[in-house]
Amino acid sequence: MRTIRWGIVGAGGIAERFAQACKNTPGAELTAIASRSQEKADTFADRFGIENRFGSYEDMARWDGIDAAYIATPHGLHAPNGILMMNCGKAVLTEKPAAVNSSELKKMLKSAAENKVFFMEAMWARVTPGTIKLLEIVESGVIGRVKGTQASFCYDMSDEPDHHAFKPEYGGGSLLDVGCYGLSFASWLTKAPVESISAEAEIGATGVDVHCCVLLKHEDGAIDSITSAMLLEKPGEGYVFGEKGYIKTVDRFYAPQEFEVHVFGEEPKTYKCPFYGNGFEEQIMESNRCIREGKLQSDLIPHSQSVKIMKLMDDIRKIVGVRYPQDID
Ligand SMILES: NC(=O)c1ccc[n+]([C@@H]2O[C@H](COP(=O)([O-])OP(=O)(O)OC[C@H]3O[C@@H](n4cnc5c(N)ncnc54)[C@H](OP(=O)(O)O)[C@@H]3O)[C@@H](O)[C@H]2O)c1
Repeated sequence: MRTIRWGIVGAGGIAERFAQACKNTPGAELTAIASRSQEKADTFADRFGIENRFGSYEDMARWDGIDAAYIATPHGLHAPNGILMMNCGKAVLTEKPAAVNSSELKKMLKSAAENKVFFMEAMWARVTPGTIKLLEIVESGVIGRVKGTQASFCYDMSDEPDHHAFKPEYGGGSLLDVGCYGLSFASWLTKAPVESISAEAEIGATGVDVHCCVLLKHEDGAIDSITSAMLLEKPGEGYVFGEKGYIKTVDRFYAPQEFEVHVFGEEPKTYKCPFYGNGFEEQIMESNRCIREGKLQSDLIPHSQSVKIMKLMDDIRKIVGVRYPQDID
């Protein structure tokens, strides 16, 4: 099995989880880290035992010692950083959301196509065992036709007012930060085209949504209810409602490690589906498999899925009145 050599772009919070997972993934090698600061790169590299450390993203992009780059910078930088890597022939796994709007994502996909490199949004949850099992159960028809989903991802980061998640120039706001999980979860389950969108948001002091509630009505009548927030805690379980029963996730809805299947008139069944490691290994395995097979995208997290979610987020932002400097049209 060919080893895929990975480099991380940005030595921040989520990069740590990726580094841990990459070290734990068979067939993957965490070869390099790139930071804007050499000192930060060295500290990160020492901590995770990474041999090659770069004090600029450009230097790692130009280096031929990696096959793939994981983009772990703020959302507003996924497009420029991803394109930099792809233009240097590297496969790219970019953190969610893939970009801040559809036109940025289009540029990324153009770069992936022109450079003939693999590109995937790091929607890690889609390839975790719990999500795969949950989708298989729904597909089997046990709960009947899906009539809707309910998901809420809400957290309180009032102690970090300077975080990039509050800044419009970085694609701030709860919708892009975590609402993307609720929209993804819904899209895996309610597949008919979206007929109409309703949304309300509380706009915070910096002009981004700090609490956002969305209803998606589908052409087959199904309705999804999705909530995100960044200055407010709410329980994080999710539901899939079917004509014959429902599924309730015990922990986070988008990557459940435990969920209950309730069929009306029967005893509920509990499913436990632990991660391979910290939850990120599965997306590294999926990327590695695709790269080895010469595929330019994953069948499980295809480009079209990122395009669909990005377009929904553009539309929702228009409804609630959140605009980024990158929104040129
Ligand atoms: N999949 C998940 O579960 C998950 C969880 C959390 C976050 N994320 C995603 O991961 C991305 C990064 O989030 P994070 O929480 O890791 O953020 P973070 O801790 O702030 O790290 C981001 C890193 O980006 C680099 N960076 C480059 N330009 C920057 C700028 N102008 N301002 C701030 N940082 C800059 C910095 O690394 P250097 O200084 O080393 O260059 C920084 O450490 C976001 O898109 C977020 O949505 C995903």
